[in-house]
Amino acid sequence: MIKAVVFDLDGVLLDTSSYHFEAWCEMAKELDIHLEESFEPNLRGVSRMESLKRILKHAGKLDQHESEMTQLATKKNNIYLEKIKHLNVDSLYEGTIDLLAYLQDKGIKIGLASASKNAEGIVTATGIKEYFDYIVDPSLVPNGKPDPDVFLDAMIHIGSRPHETIGVEDSSAGLDGINDAGFISVGIGDTALLSQAMFVFKDTKTFSDKIKEMPFNFL
Ligand code: BG6
Ligand code: MG
Repeated sequence: MIKAVVFDLDGVLLDTSSYHFEAWCEMAKELDIHLEESFEPNLRGVSRMESLKRILKHAGKLDQHESEMTQLATKKNNIYLEKIKHLNVDSLYEGTIDLLAYLQDKGIKIGLASASKNAEGIVTATGIKEYFDYIVDPSLVPNGKPDPDVFLDAMIHIGSRPHETIGVEDSSAGLDGINDAGFISVGIGDTALLSQAMFVFKDTKTFSDKIKEMPFNFL
């Protein structure tokens, strides 16, 4: 019996992943670093600082910029905040509200386990904050994804057990965390990039439609 679903935010409930990447590209350009589109999946699910470290390392410029990392991360976040200031309920993926409303109606607890320090602001701006029984504050959790800490934090506060909990992610790092937490793992996106997920759906709308077809006692 499933008692809880713990969601990632960026790339699962709405397409903020593209804004994160655009902001990183703009920041990187100022350091004469060009980021190829193929590098983007490496940044999904990982914290701001870890993303910056990966970018500098990839460009062979980690030593050169190590002392400015805090300023660079702040610069990227300011660019990102500018890009997401228009977000509203229409920015959500098709199926997001349907899915949250369905789970709430069935009495399933809903958690949010995003690596983003902007997550609470985004769920507030898009009008879905009230669906969540618990929102993880990633700054209070010792280890970010791919460690399972954010997912376990959500589960403990919600009061479910691992095998009663579904974790939903679009990132490889996040799926590793969900699997380590012992949850049922659901990937949203391309099967080829999310091979460690127990189930993969091409988008949130498909997951929402499928979960409604599952027998009630599964949920
Ligand atoms: C994750 C994104 O959800 O949050 C990453 O997939 C991002 O791309 C991370 O780096 C941290 O986000 P923020 O908003 O705290 O910089
Ligand atoms: Mg994500």
